[in-house]
Amino acid sequence: MKLLGVLFAFTFVLTLAFCTTKQKAIKEKKNVTFEKDVLPILKDRCTPCHFPETGKKKMLDTYQANKDNIDEILKRIQLPKEDPLYMPFKSKKTPLNDSLIEVIKNWKLQGFIP
Ligand code: HEC
Repeated sequence: MKLLGVLFAFTFVLTLAFCTTKQKAIKEKKNVTFEKDVLPILKDRCTPCHFPETGKKKMLDTYQANKDNIDEILKRIQLPKEDPLYMPFKSKKTPLNDSLIEVIKNWKLQGFIP
């Protein structure tokens, strides 16, 4: 009988742990917005080449430009770093790590929140 109690308590703790991690995962997956999440990454990693003033390449400084080019952007930031099409170009800026790539992927998945 005692063993049953221990087992029960164990299951209870496990369930509790599972629920909190699940909740945390959902919380982390909260809405990705262009202004708060995507733009700061671009400003950090894609300037000056894709921003006005100094940029001579395709402009990626606005919501619309990024939405229109999202597939090309996602493709390029996920290429092997030695690929000539890889972005940031020739890794002149720090390459995006998996969690930053995930932010941009989620922006698309969640339907491009401005
Ligand atoms: C050091 C300058 C530089 C940086 C930084 C840079 N790029 Fe580029 N980018 C280029 C050049 C040069 C080209 C044109 C050559 C090519 O197509 O590969 C280009 C082309 C592109 C294109 C294709 C545009 C088209 O005409 O279809 C995309 C999309 C792109 N870059 C995205 C990005 C993203 C996203 C970042 C930041 C994570 C970034 N780039 C960072 C220089 C840069």
